[in-house]
Amino acid sequence: MNRKDDHIRLALAQKTITNDFDRIRFKHQSLPESNLVNLDMTVTLFNKRFPLPFFINAMTGGSEQAKNMNERLAKLARHFKIPIATGSLSIAMKQPALLETFQVIRQVYPEAFIIGNIGAGHDWAYVESVKKLFSMQALQIHVNAPQEVLMPEGDKNLVGWTNKVKEVQAHIDIPLIIKEVGFGMSRETIKTLIECGVQYIDVAGRGGTNFAKIENARRTSALSIFDDWGLSTVESLLEAQGMNATIIASGGIRHGLDIVKAFALGAKAVGLSGYFLKLVSEHSFEEAIQAIEKLILEMKSAMMMLGVTNLLQLNQAPLILDSALLAYQKQIV
Ligand code: FNR
Repeated sequence: MNRKDDHIRLALAQKTITNDFDRIRFKHQSLPESNLVNLDMTVTLFNKRFPLPFFINAMTGGSEQAKNMNERLAKLARHFKIPIATGSLSIAMKQPALLETFQVIRQVYPEAFIIGNIGAGHDWAYVESVKKLFSMQALQIHVNAPQEVLMPEGDKNLVGWTNKVKEVQAHIDIPLIIKEVGFGMSRETIKTLIECGVQYIDVAGRGGTNFAKIENARRTSALSIFDDWGLSTVESLLEAQGMNATIIASGGIRHGLDIVKAFALGAKAVGLSGYFLKLVSEHSFEEAIQAIEKLILEMKSAMMMLGVTNLLQLNQAPLILDSALLAYQKQIV
């Protein structure tokens, strides 16, 4: 079985858990003066308007099963007119025959806003070739140090990632997003990325799909002490407060209330991976649509109770953090 199929199988086996979003509540307002018909669910991202504030985040490509997943994901993206990210395209650079496992997204949804994805450590010449190979509207570069370290076949030389990010950012003519893969981002990392000229940062924190556990399950001798490595998505959003970048929240988003909380913590868009993987693997297209409609209703319900009419206003909504998160917030410098 190939690595892409391992990742799908092991991610699907991970159960939805409680996470740091459960340690935040909104202060209840008894006179919200809201009206369902006035709710504006649109977001402006990459200078483009989208009807909904969430998107399908990077997952797969590179195997027959991955192609099938991408086809189903693209159908959902088309139905809701939301952006969709590919899995890492580097496999298609190595084996051009596998390109079709990604191109299926464009075939299903020709007008799609597709976010291509590659790993860190590649120079501009490489990124330019990827862009030529596959038509994309934005590019994600994933920074996944713990995964490389723990992955049996992972890259064990992580030197030069920062400079390569700076180089790519200096040349690229489409939006560039630097994203984690479920380990979150510190204030120091975010500062360095901003110094590299990066505008779009997806903190992709801990709380959902856990790649330390996935790679450990693929090792003959697991380094399980690292199973809980990383910052949660909520911690990462606290780390990102006041930073001059467009922050995207992802990692462990389970429902509409998590999305609303992410916006309250300053996110400008929200990405979901594991959520969509389970939807397309375990449910029919009709059931998946119903689940996403419910997620949208959850968001709208929270916004009505809070008396906000759009997602950006959520940033003003008073939050109650539990004592552990408050203590965490105090030690961020
Ligand atoms: C991923 N993820 C991922 N990320 C990335 O940047 N490039 C990739 O190729 C992949 N591949 C991949 C495969 C599978 C099966 C899953 C479930 C995930 C990571 C993903 O984009 C995201 O950062 C994490 O999964 C955390 O978000 P969720 O799953 O908790 O919403």
